[in-house]
Formats: sequence, C-alpha cells, structure tokens
Amino acid sequence: MSNPSVLVLGNLLDEAAEILKVSASFLEHPRENAVAEAKLIELLKDRDAVISEPLDHFSETLLDRCPKLKIIANRAVGFDNIDLEQASARGILVTNTPGVLDAATADLAMALTLAVARRIVEADRYVRDGKWQGFQSDLMLGPDLYGKTLGVIGMGRIGRAFAERARAFGLKVIYCRFSARDEKDDQLKQILEAERVDLETLLEDSDFISLHCPYNADTHHLIGARELSRMKPQAVLVNTARGRIIDETALVKHLEAGNIFGAGLDVFENEPALPDRLKKLENVVLTPHIGSACFDTRRRMTMLAVESIKAAFQGDLPKHLLNPEAWEKFKERTACPNPNPNPNPNRSR
Ligand code: GLV
Repeated sequence: MSNPSVLVLGNLLDEAAEILKVSASFLEHPRENAVAEAKLIELLKDRDAVISEPLDHFSETLLDRCPKLKIIANRAVGFDNIDLEQASARGILVTNTPGVLDAATADLAMALTLAVARRIVEADRYVRDGKWQGFQSDLMLGPDLYGKTLGVIGMGRIGRAFAERARAFGLKVIYCRFSARDEKDDQLKQILEAERVDLETLLEDSDFISLHCPYNADTHHLIGARELSRMKPQAVLVNTARGRIIDETALVKHLEAGNIFGAGLDVFENEPALPDRLKKLENVVLTPHIGSACFDTRRRMTMLAVESIKAAFQGDLPKHLLNPEAWEKFKERTACPNPNPNPNPNRSR
C-alpha cells in the first residue's frame, strides 16, 4: 500500500518524526486533555494508524467509525483504553511499550511510598506556611520503612523493580501474582527473599502495599472496602498502576476515618477528575499519572511506538504486538509484500 497516514496524539519527538516521515505521512495533534470521541473519529476516520496514550479511548463505536484504521500504537504499557477484542476482529493491530518504563515507574512508587510515610508534602506545606516553631520530637511522625513488610500486588517487571528498591530500604517483600506458580517464584525467593502469599495474607501482613497489576475485569475494584478493612491501621497504600483497581469511594472513606495511615496515588478512577473529598485529605500524596514521566523513558516509549508502525507496514511483525490474532487480517488489509511467516510475538504488559 502507499505510505500510511498516521495520527499522533500528543507530541512526537524530532528524532521519532525523522524516522516516521521516511515511510509515512503524519499529523500531530498536541493536546492537554482527552480528545472527545466525536473529535477523535473526525481526526482518525481517514487514517491508517494512530500513536495513542492512556487517555485515548478506542471503543467499539470508534473502531466502527474508523474503517481505515490498521494499527494502534499505544505509548504506554497498559492497554485498558483499547477494546482489544474488537480491534482484533477488524484486523487492527495493537501494540504497547513494555520493558522501557519499569525503573521510572518503580521509582515513582518508591517516591510516593516515602512521601506518604515521611509526610514530605504535608511537611513542605507546614514549613512554607510559617507554622514551624523549631525542632519537636513528636513533629510529623510517620511509619519506619526499615524492617517492615512490603506487599506487592502484581509481580511483573514493574512490581519486581519496585521490590528491588524496597529491599535496599530494608523492607521484607511479600507478593501475590495472578498466574500459576513457576520458576519466577523460585527466583524471587532466591534473589529478593520474597515470599509469594495469597491476597488475604498480603493485606493483613503488609505495612506498605503497592499495586503493579494490569487493569482488567478481574482486577476491577480489587481493593475495595473489604480489602481496605483487612489492612493494618498504619498501612500505606500506593497505586501507580490504574485507578480503577481501587474502589476510590471506599478508599476516601477509609482515609477520612484514619483507618490506614495514608495513600500515594498516581492514577485515579476517572482521570483527570478527582473527588473533592480526596483532594482535601492531608494523608494522601497525589500525582497526575506521571509514572513513566522521565526524559529517556518517554523517549524510548515514543521510539517503540514509531518502530511498531514502521515494522507493521513493512510486513514485519511488530515487537510488542498485543493481538497476534489480528495479524493475518492486517496483512490482507494492507497486502504486505513481505509478511513474516513465523510470528513469535511478545505479548506483555
Ligand atoms: C502508563 O500508564 C502506562 O501504562 O505506561
């Protein structure tokens, strides 16, 4: 087919633009907010590909109205913003950017853990507001990290990167995974002395809990009122995964009641909207979905998205293809000259 036409949601780096323009035409659509569905359809209806981000939603309706679309290259590791099944049924490839943002996201989870436990944001406000009268032995106390237990929910690459950081802070690590026990559990035991436990045990035994699982039907409101009530009164909950894994209303109630020590949240149920009651709380630290927001990391994510589009239209299987079942149909739709006969995709979050 002739050079594909690509919509880029958000900014494209010069380096990525140089690569993309060799084999495609593209339109950049810089924005600060989510693009409304009707507008997105208008921008996308005559395009072959899109570089998207977590705030862009690809519903069945949108896919129906964009019949030329052939690949969605999501600049994120999570892909809960895309109806994968419907994309596959239409021969639309979907790719993500795993592996390049683990350290950055784990760093933010650690930053939030420390910020909540050591009350950094509250303390900063206290000093700026001129409230500080001098050293006080009981001023701004918070839980120790050293010698305490961290519970990691979802032990993929990011969960593990966070566990490694936690070990350096003297935390014991327990975790739960959603897949069957395998050699990975032995490695985690050997290298990090991490114990696999069930969710109930993790909730009850952890002083710090950090979420690192993907969002899907099984993890929707995984942490609700019941789970929160199992946590220790001094527990700190951190979420850098997806907002809808936590029942936010239940969390606000628990935080207001002081049933847990606090929470560090980078993601929210209805981003960018937050309940006013959450914003009023002193025992939370809130950041605007910036888990991977580091210069090199974001550059690598963009390059992966561009490479996925380039590969697909050259007839090569993109490296991080989430729906290999769409590949045959994609090839029919594009009549690729050099289809890869042996797809061995790396489907990963
Ligand atoms: C960001 O939220 C991502 O999934 O990469």
